[in-house]
Amino acid sequence: MLEQEIKKDSAESEGGITSSYAADDGVVLKVPYSFFGSIYGEEEKEAAAKAMDQDSLTMGPQVSLFQKEFAAMCGVKHAFAVSNCTTAMHVATQVFGIGPGDEVIVTPNTFVATSLVIVKEGARPVYADINPWTFNIDPGEIAKKVTEKTKAIYVVHYGGQMCDMDPIMEIARKHGLYVMEDCAHTPGAEYRGRKAGSIGDIGCFSFHSLKNMSTCGEGGMITTNRDEFKDGIEKLRCMNIRDWPKQTDYWLPSHFDVTDINGRWGSNYRMNEIQAAVGRVQLWKLPGLNEKRREIGRAITAGIKDIPGLSPVCEDPNCFHVYHLYTLCVEADRLGASRDDFLRVLYREEGVQGILHYQPTYDFTGWRKMGYGEHLCPRAEDFFYRRELNLPMHPRLSEQNIRDMVTGIQRAAEKVRCRNR
Ligand SMILES: Cc1ncc(COP(=O)(O)O)c(C=O)c1O
Repeated sequence: MLEQEIKKDSAESEGGITSSYAADDGVVLKVPYSFFGSIYGEEEKEAAAKAMDQDSLTMGPQVSLFQKEFAAMCGVKHAFAVSNCTTAMHVATQVFGIGPGDEVIVTPNTFVATSLVIVKEGARPVYADINPWTFNIDPGEIAKKVTEKTKAIYVVHYGGQMCDMDPIMEIARKHGLYVMEDCAHTPGAEYRGRKAGSIGDIGCFSFHSLKNMSTCGEGGMITTNRDEFKDGIEKLRCMNIRDWPKQTDYWLPSHFDVTDINGRWGSNYRMNEIQAAVGRVQLWKLPGLNEKRREIGRAITAGIKDIPGLSPVCEDPNCFHVYHLYTLCVEADRLGASRDDFLRVLYREEGVQGILHYQPTYDFTGWRKMGYGEHLCPRAEDFFYRRELNLPMHPRLSEQNIRDMVTGIQRAAEKVRCRNR
């Protein structure tokens, strides 16, 4: 395809939230929000081209190696490549046997996928509020929500920093609950020396374009130390297919048998060989990509930490933060202006594009239809509707981009403070 046609195509993306936030509003952006969270070089291109020459283009040697290498990175026994994190979490929900009548305690501060897999299986998400400084689910709030119907806790390591997993695992053990870690934001992150995806019963990762490592725009991984889940996960990601169990005296290479897992039916949630080949290179680069994000995160914090009314990212000393997001909070009473005023000036006048993650899931129309009320989690609401904004964050940001962001934030804060006097 000609370069020009490719450019035209990207301007006409299908996307909404998963593609581009480019707007035709005349604003000149110095630092736009990017929809590619990684860096691809010749190594990824060579790996993809080589995989295209293989005999099998899906679930072959690249997937097998990617799984082994990913499991080693996380320090877990098993890893299973899948089509994305949503399908990974769907498989986890099916393997746990979660269904009608069950409750799953979950954070409202997440992409809708974390709750969607619960409602898809006919169970009820129960929302526990967040810690206002880490933006992760608060273990104390989880404890308040446990009932006889609770079957699992689904945590999300928001923005690159892991949840406080020790008290969460303690609650789970006390009540016999499964724990699923949504690690979409945290490949390579750590909590007290343990990697994301290695503490709960199952970890689910995303390799979507935005993420710290990507497999050509979409992709996912399931991790577990639990041998008893291996068979179910393998079957549910590929239509419950099992080897042909009957004895025969001739070769039946394409014969298979199919049965349910926990009464659940699988789907085609497989990853292809090109994605896996690229994923292997990205995995090898992941420590460097994460380190770059950490450097950028710390440079932003150093530049803005003394601005009254703005709270930079808090790094929990127990965690190795991988800065999937840089979340800045506006404390309106101290800034003298609202988050929305600040965000508007930062965008329109300073050319720095911030975006918001995440509207509390229970505020979506579909959840209202299911009978969820307002104000279930006041801290998550305060966070989304009044405090937070996410700055551009990816490892391709230049020193100039970082300077422009820091200066833009300083100037926007000063402008809104003066205008509101
Ligand atoms: C926290 C979180 N969970 C789950 C997902 C879903 O990931 P995927 O797009 O790979 O299905 C995302 C993706 O944006 C996410 O940010």
